[in-house]
Amino acid sequence: MYPVLRRGVFRSVAEAVGNTPLIDLTGPLGLKNGSRVLAKLEFFNPGGSVKDRPALYIVRDAMAQGLLSPGTTILDASSGNMAVSLALMAACFGLKTKIVLPSNISPEKIGLLKILGAEIVFTDPLEGIDGAIREARRLAEEDPKGYYYSNQYDNPSNIRAHYETTGPEIIRQTRGRVTHFVAGVGTSGTLMGAGKRLREYNKAVRIIEVQPDAPFHGIEGLKHMPSSIKPKIYDPTFADELIQVSTDEAYEFSRLLSSHTGVLAGISGGANVAAAVRVAKENKGAVVVTLIPDGAARYVNLLVG
Ligand SMILES: Cc1ncc(COP(=O)(O)O)c(C=O)c1O
Repeated sequence: MYPVLRRGVFRSVAEAVGNTPLIDLTGPLGLKNGSRVLAKLEFFNPGGSVKDRPALYIVRDAMAQGLLSPGTTILDASSGNMAVSLALMAACFGLKTKIVLPSNISPEKIGLLKILGAEIVFTDPLEGIDGAIREARRLAEEDPKGYYYSNQYDNPSNIRAHYETTGPEIIRQTRGRVTHFVAGVGTSGTLMGAGKRLREYNKAVRIIEVQPDAPFHGIEGLKHMPSSIKPKIYDPTFADELIQVSTDEAYEFSRLLSSHTGVLAGISGGANVAAAVRVAKENKGAVVVTLIPDGAARYVNLLVG
């Protein structure tokens, strides 16, 4: 296990990844049936999102396997957060990054990538994240020696990061009382990794997957799987239940979390909490844990506009 749980002085910002706070939203959300909704605030990670966890594991595993030499550039397709996290890890470890992403990604994320020194390739926004994945694959095939294609969608280090950090943190922070785990899927690393760990801990824990309710949606970071390139790490039979959330509902909950709880949640955090509330209402006495994958600061223009 990597020393992400180290206490005290960190040698680099990479060691400050994980151990995010778990906040009880039950009261502010007005739940009155004895169920609780708890959310892990992943924007407390140094790169501002949940993606710091898999980015750290992906880069460290690649270094350990000798796949990254000083001349190699880390290449990936991302809806923004993994890009920022990879660029941050590259800055920590003295490496370079090239990120392929749809040009309609929020300007806040693009600005961060520039500050972190990443090279950026834009793809057609109408093709969404899948257009960026196709372009990243093409670039990797063109120059396999120059790039390390980290391929977050197919890379098992992504799942392992959540299996070894997110899952155990939830068990520890709830003192093992978690009954339901709710997570939106992009690569599905969070759902598959933390979900596997929780299920191993207690096979009665119900794993609930969240997806946008339509192919064209505005929940950055989440995939509508039936109409998307399926990540290799994704198992559609893994979750016990699938909840679909509309873009409007995700925005509504994101704004409500900020204004009524002070939790500055991004849009996919809004989707996760919308689904978690449904689960909590349907299951009296449940302890429902979800995540706020990133913060509202990444979507100020969208949330205010
Ligand atoms: C904002 C946001 N929410 C949710 C997710 C989904 O997480 P995962 O890739 O672990 O399924 C991502 C992934 O990129 C994301 O950026």
